[in-house]
Amino acid sequence: MIDRSFTTVANLRTKIFADGADKAGMLDMAAKPFIKGLTTNPTLMKKAGITNYKAFALDVLKDIPNKPISFEVFSDDFLEMEKQANEIAGWGDNVYVKIPITNTRREGAYDLIGRLANKNIKLNITAIMTLDQVRGVIEKLNPNVPSYVSIFAGRIADTGRDPLPLMIEAVTILKSNPMSELIWASPRELLNIFQADAIGCQVITVTNDLLKKLDLVGKDLDEYSLDTVKMFYNDATSAGFTI
Ligand code: E4P
Repeated sequence: MIDRSFTTVANLRTKIFADGADKAGMLDMAAKPFIKGLTTNPTLMKKAGITNYKAFALDVLKDIPNKPISFEVFSDDFLEMEKQANEIAGWGDNVYVKIPITNTRREGAYDLIGRLANKNIKLNITAIMTLDQVRGVIEKLNPNVPSYVSIFAGRIADTGRDPLPLMIEAVTILKSNPMSELIWASPRELLNIFQADAIGCQVITVTNDLLKKLDLVGKDLDEYSLDTVKMFYNDATSAGFTI
């Protein structure tokens, strides 16, 4: 069900996580009370120039010991992924181990997820884009251990499909495991935070760039229109344009 009433940031029920791997940005976000957790991934870490995965993670965890934070395994072999997951899980009580839904050979990670869940490891299953994947994962997750199911709604939207119906259905599927929370991953615009909230999605993970737009929430549209006109005028003036 979609609750279409307008919500302010303070009233959001959806928890905002900060998605990124730039240490300064992560600490900045972690210090904000409205940021309830953090996520990373190997692509973000590469982009941030990280070369020593473990040293980076341990360093970040020294400064962020209390909010949930996800670190992803990066092997393509399930046995190796399992070893990495065991190691990563030992880095802190607030650590969630991100497991991609398949390896690069399209083999499902379901058995691995089941084994890790039975060892009470907190998991964040990532790169999910179909409801079949959600159903397969939810069967394997431990009902006594907190976990996240990350659907890449923005990537679904990138294919020209509206992710909202799928996300609504996923919220329903996850009700069978109350310890498992749905993450709206890869948001593409600030509106996605309010869409996630309206459908009862528990978490949304947002990059710092998108979070900068939070100041705009609820802004008067006449004022915003005027700001935009001023921006064009000031830029044209400072560029010295003439016709
Ligand atoms: C989530 O945990 C991912 O790190 C992230 O949302 C991926 O976003 P992208 O689709 O923009 O790469």
